[in-house]
Amino acid sequence: MAGVRWPPEDSDLPPPRVPAATAAAAAATEMISDDDRSVAADSWSIKSEYGSTLDDEQRHVDAAEVLLGCNFPAAASDYSSDKDGTDSNEVEASLLGLLSYWDASYAEDLANFHEHGHAGEIWFGNEVMETVAAWTKNLCAHVYQSQKEDDNNCTSDSGRTSKDLSGWSVLDIGTGNGLLLQELAKQGFSNLTGTDYSEGAIVLAQNLATRNGYPNINFLVDDVLETKLDRKFQLVMDKGTLDAIGLHPDGPLKRIMYWESVSNLVAPGGILVITSCNNTKDELLQEVENLNQKKTSMQELDPESGNAPVVFQYIDHVRTYPTIMFGGVEGSRVCSVAFRRS
Ligand SMILES: C[S@@+](CC[C@H](N)C(=O)[O-])C[C@H]1O[C@@H](n2cnc3c(N)ncnc32)[C@H](O)[C@@H]1O
Repeated sequence: MAGVRWPPEDSDLPPPRVPAATAAAAAATEMISDDDRSVAADSWSIKSEYGSTLDDEQRHVDAAEVLLGCNFPAAASDYSSDKDGTDSNEVEASLLGLLSYWDASYAEDLANFHEHGHAGEIWFGNEVMETVAAWTKNLCAHVYQSQKEDDNNCTSDSGRTSKDLSGWSVLDIGTGNGLLLQELAKQGFSNLTGTDYSEGAIVLAQNLATRNGYPNINFLVDDVLETKLDRKFQLVMDKGTLDAIGLHPDGPLKRIMYWESVSNLVAPGGILVITSCNNTKDELLQEVENLNQKKTSMQELDPESGNAPVVFQYIDHVRTYPTIMFGGVEGSRVCSVAFRRS
């Protein structure tokens, strides 16, 4: 089933919209091991042990629908099993949270890269990727400049700031084809690392970076939930990865692990930028607030300020994504939110 290919670039036929991903979803369905199935089954029962599962389950299905409507692959359309009476939406959603799904997807993308030079999906589209890269660079420059001004009690020169930013250590978690890092390189960042738990993603990202003239970007296979990285980064990017993690059948638990891990990966004073179409800005703020509360309840108050130290603090979000009005409320399909690590 994993045999769908893009037509050659000089073909008269337009490329199909999402064939690789669709095939990958079906392949992932075939490839899901008994272990994955039992993890999925266990996780639903873990949720039940927490008490009411209805909200989480509904939220999970809703999230999957939103994601599938962004540009997550059309996994749903090819998956029609209703095994064990499970709602097929739940199974479809959980596929997007599984490594087997992504492995199959990147195997397709790699084959398309080798045959036709295609880079694969740009999640949320090129415009969002370019916007978030440029916006992040400006944000980092602003944060860096105000920090310097606070330290030196004087204004700093913006040309110098850009130069200094180039040395910032940047990590993109769940980097996929790594194109966001290439975009950040165009913005002047040069100390760039991308990780993904799918080996195929990393091979694809390395191939694309070399081909496009960015051989110095580092790529590593790493599961952010059990990261082997023992260093911290001044800027951590996530575009669509928390979304995917949240769709694991054990999503709520995995999200807690995600925040734990990410809070260890961002250096003190460093910045985390999450781009999501699964969560609104306010939902991400709430999740961070929950993390802060959990952490502070375990720590003592700062003797000087009398406040409990927070882990992440909201700094800004992208305001230029197109918005839609629904039920009198304005919103956008994608949000990018930045937090500063204490
Ligand atoms: C929606 S894709 C986004 C890819 C890329 N960030 C982009 O914007 O093009 C989600 C990515 O997260 C990766 N991923 C999911 N769970 C992960 C985990 N626990 N650790 C590392 N990568 C993960 C997947 O392999 C996939 O590449």
